[in-house]
Amino acid sequence: MERRKILITGASKGLGLAISKRLSPDYELILHATKKESFTETIPGSHLLCADFADDEQLSDFCKLLKKEHGESLYAVVNNAGVTFDKPLNFQPEREIDTMLRVNLRAPILICKTAMKIFGLLNRGVIINVSSVVGESGNAFQSVYAATKAGLAALSRSLAQEAAALNETHNIRVLSISPGFIETEMTAAIPQAIKEKYLNMIPAKRFGSVNDVAATVAFLLSDEASYINGTNIHINGGLL
Ligand SMILES: NC(=O)c1ccc[n+]([C@@H]2O[C@H](COP(=O)([O-])OP(=O)(O)OC[C@H]3O[C@@H](n4cnc5c(N)ncnc54)[C@H](OP(=O)(O)O)[C@@H]3O)[C@@H](O)[C@H]2O)c1
Repeated sequence: MERRKILITGASKGLGLAISKRLSPDYELILHATKKESFTETIPGSHLLCADFADDEQLSDFCKLLKKEHGESLYAVVNNAGVTFDKPLNFQPEREIDTMLRVNLRAPILICKTAMKIFGLLNRGVIINVSSVVGESGNAFQSVYAATKAGLAALSRSLAQEAAALNETHNIRVLSISPGFIETEMTAAIPQAIKEKYLNMIPAKRFGSVNDVAATVAFLLSDEASYINGTNIHINGGLL
């Protein structure tokens, strides 16, 4: 049987890499990072498609290539690439604000646009946008990051409704997931005192692992999740 083809952005490390490993070899993977050198592990049979999403031209070329090379068979997209620069908004350089808006929100929007065109023609498809617990709870020193993540959840809910309105097969699903505190490079930089504060707030009394998230994504992509649509799934050990 032909394997379903899935794009995973930000697949060089952290959550994206764990999701890639969880989905391989059941799915044919298109893996993204800013550049080929970012990948330190190879997933046999995967395709690489690199772009810095902070660069409008590279993002535009990425979307064109995705449609041209994989448009006839794309099954799903996991919009996972993201960046954060944690500091008070007063002291945040505009350059950092723009990078977060571009990478975390503009890029997923344009990738969703490309995917919706493809899925509309194929009459099926799944999009999973990786939001965050802070998109709902808010978090000091992550105002812009949290705003981009809240935007992704709203984007997903709206697009699910739009797909239902435009496509008669009702076979296109759009979801977001909100990981809580997951141990990756992105969270490694958080000071120990703040980590301990979070740990006390998590009913599960542990930080999440990348595999907690990867397993959820694998389920949401499967046919068994075909009735889950237009919603946001929390993976946070009870932290809210
Ligand atoms: N870790 C957590 O606790 C947590 C919690 C909630 C939500 N999330 C979200 O989950 C996603 C993955 O997080 P993570 O912790 O796995 O992050 P990570 O380990 O820092 O990995 C980030 C990924 O995004 C890519 N990326 C970074 N800047 C980019 C840019 N300018 N253009 C295109 N791609 C870029 C990176 O590619 P390069 O290697 O090439 O730089 C890398 O593949 C993010 O969207 C994050 O906001 C994480």
